Amino acid sequence: GAEAPLKHVAWSFNGPFGTYDRDALRRGYKVYKEVCSTCHAMSMVHFRNLAEKGGPEFTAAEVKAIAAGYKVQDGPDSSGEMFERPAEGKDPFPSPYPNDEAAAASLGAAPPDLSLIAKAREGGADYIYSLLNGYEEAPANVHVPAGGNYNPVFVAGSGIIAMPKPLSDGQVDYTDGTPNTAEQMSKDVAQFLMWAAEPKLEQRHRLGLQVVLYLIALTGILYFATRKIWADQH
Ligand code: HEM
Repeated sequence: GAEAPLKHVAWSFNGPFGTYDRDALRRGYKVYKEVCSTCHAMSMVHFRNLAEKGGPEFTAAEVKAIAAGYKVQDGPDSSGEMFERPAEGKDPFPSPYPNDEAAAASLGAAPPDLSLIAKAREGGADYIYSLLNGYEEAPANVHVPAGGNYNPVFVAGSGIIAMPKPLSDGQVDYTDGTPNTAEQMSKDVAQFLMWAAEPKLEQRHRLGLQVVLYLIALTGILYFATRKIWADQH
């Protein structure tokens, strides 16, 4: 299989002072929830993270409602029994499968946890975006085994991937008027997964800006202080 070049998106979070697009993160969450989460866990993201600054910034009430839509295992209770309860803010997103074997059983390869995938793969959000848009008809000389799909962006499997093309036009309802094309949804979910892997990006960029401003101010102070100290030396 060929190695397809990545498509580069002009992300709002690129560059030293970039920020996430709040609305894109919210749409991306919806895509993750309605499509990706049927196969992929995101075990390092907790529901309460969805309300934190620099993320989708859902309200506390929205997060409570989102969490309550998931069931998690808890226990043992006072009589030693495990029990199921609605998720709360403190809980991580639950895995759709009880274990790795079950995850690998249906498609032949286990869907990886998506918490850090945007940092784990070269290209980050561009990789995820390109992968989701990278499904093609296999060339005649490439044999695609049963259950496999051809996607030359997926280099790990030399173009053969167990994940079927997950997104098609109109699949997820968008409530903010953004056209719900497969291309747009893949862009939004790629940004959402970038936030999941790097939730402190905005904080880091803000600190960088403050440091630059501080150094400019310090340079000025030192310049004039030096001139004053040495003023009568010549
Ligand atoms: C692999 C993203 C939906 C099953 C992957 C990978 C990513 C990804 C980034 C890793 C590729 C790599 O290792 O480089 C997504 C996103 C989804 C989505 C963003 C939603 C839009 C699904 C769905 C299924 C699924 C619905 C199940 C029907 C898999 C499997 C793999 C995988 C089995 C492993 C592929 C292999 O190793 O051959 N996915 N996925 N994914 N995904 Fe998904």
